[in-house]
Amino acid sequence: MTTEKTELNVRTAVRDRYSKIAEEFQSGTQTDCGCTPVPTSCCGDDGDTKDESVHIAALEKYYQNVDTDTLPEEVTGLSLGCGDPITLAALTPGQRVLDLGSGGGIDCFLAGQRVGETGHVIGVDMTPAMLEKARANKTRLGINNVEFRLGEIEHLPVSDASIDVIISNCVINLSTDKAQVFREMFRTMRPGGKIAVSDMVTEGKLPDGLRESLSAWAGCVSGALDIEEYISGIKNAGFVDVEITPEYLDRDQVDDAVRQLGGEIQLGGLSKEAVYKAVFSAKITARKPA
Ligand SMILES: C[S@@+](CC[C@H](N)C(=O)[O-])C[C@H]1O[C@@H](n2cnc3c(N)ncnc32)[C@H](O)[C@@H]1O
Repeated sequence: MTTEKTELNVRTAVRDRYSKIAEEFQSGTQTDCGCTPVPTSCCGDDGDTKDESVHIAALEKYYQNVDTDTLPEEVTGLSLGCGDPITLAALTPGQRVLDLGSGGGIDCFLAGQRVGETGHVIGVDMTPAMLEKARANKTRLGINNVEFRLGEIEHLPVSDASIDVIISNCVINLSTDKAQVFREMFRTMRPGGKIAVSDMVTEGKLPDGLRESLSAWAGCVSGALDIEEYISGIKNAGFVDVEITPEYLDRDQVDDAVRQLGGEIQLGGLSKEAVYKAVFSAKITARKPA
């Protein structure tokens, strides 16, 4: 794969990756273990088939405080996050929630259960195949307080100051213009509203080969922002009370990225342990001043 990282190339690589994951999951092809192909690591693994138990373990790791058994396998099987924005958001009935990069819809459906009939959840995703999957799940579940919109998180199809809580799970790292995403979050949020995001961030140097790779970007590794840049980016958009708390070292994520590079990356003098420690999933919260 070319390593020329123009904005268009990155967006195309990201959309292609998540289209492939959604389409292969939809196809319901059986693996040799007889189970449906499932993505393994939090951002998926380019559609490879893996043991379902690995995916369930990842789901349980992230959603320790949430009962995901309330949702069917069509939803949980396509979970591609790297954390639990639902617990972080502490949603209450009546709230209006926006999910950036909603994928198959898992966090939208969990949010919908919490905000109830008087609340409303909007999921935005730029990949038509993911949106199709999420909408089919909504129909299957017969839910009225969740909707899915096609769009980019850099140009949200959502009106000004209309949202109480913005959630997102392993998506902002994929954007080529994070400052624009933060501005859009600020525009769409009502004064006093809050951000509750799980995302990959970095602290320390990543090897150049990994940084330059389109597939590692699309796998939520090389697009991750440095923790300090993340904080200043959110503050520059106007948010206050910004907090970023490291949560998991995502070794699988790094291993997948390296594997997709054919194991060919030069670690630039870094140990693999140092690379593992440099990229991790974090909890991110902030507030728009009232
Ligand atoms: C790693 S998956 C996470 C999906 C979901 N949040 C979850 O937890 O299962 C990333 C999703 O974000 C979407 N996405 C990536 N970049 C985007 C962008 N710039 N605008 C809108 N959606 C985007 C992808 O299509 C994909 O569905």
